[in-house]
Amino acid sequence: RTPLVVMASGTGSLLESLIARGGAEDSPFRVAAIVVDRVCRAQEVAQRNDIPLITCRVADHADRSTWDRALTEQVAAIGPEWVVTAGFMKILGPAFLGRFGGRVVNSHPALLPAFPGAHGVAEALDYGVKVTGATVHLVDEGVDTGPILAQQVVTVDDDDTADTLHERIKTVERVLLADVVTALVTRGVVIDGRKARIP
Ligand code: GAR
Repeated sequence: RTPLVVMASGTGSLLESLIARGGAEDSPFRVAAIVVDRVCRAQEVAQRNDIPLITCRVADHADRSTWDRALTEQVAAIGPEWVVTAGFMKILGPAFLGRFGGRVVNSHPALLPAFPGAHGVAEALDYGVKVTGATVHLVDEGVDTGPILAQQVVTVDDDDTADTLHERIKTVERVLLADVVTALVTRGVVIDGRKARIP
């Protein structure tokens, strides 16, 4: 099975979805290791599922680029074919993308290119959009700017808060991300300019 590294900073519910899908009998991938950059529930998810855990914190390194290089080496030691950022709240650096560029997939809780960044759900809600959604895309050096692999719409309700809306988006993300990763590891991706297509 194709080894995947999943990177997370939060509750790790997208991570749990990937672990569950990777554990299915017919799955083409498995979660080989989990990377976190802070103390978070995703660490418990790793322990509970008996999956190797790498904790690589910026604060434990001299600066951001030292952290970037250390993270790159630790992930390279696992030898993943694909890396998935699932609620990983740090921008990946040049060393990491130099090594894994084109093989890093991110899930974002908005319909890119609208509302990129760390507060996509709240910003969409504050803007007053009537639909938002989930985007799975390849990671490049920008913030949520890489080629889009898949998107799914989520309708905004009048009484939504950022939390209720985010929870509905995450319900969509958990399935969409696992579906896209399954397709990617099986069929790869064709890039044509900005456009990505899973054949
Ligand atoms: C997901 O909605 C993911 O798209 C988002 O964090 C959540 C993680 O949920 N990521 C970003 O906003 C990155 N900019 P989880 O911790 O329950 O898996």
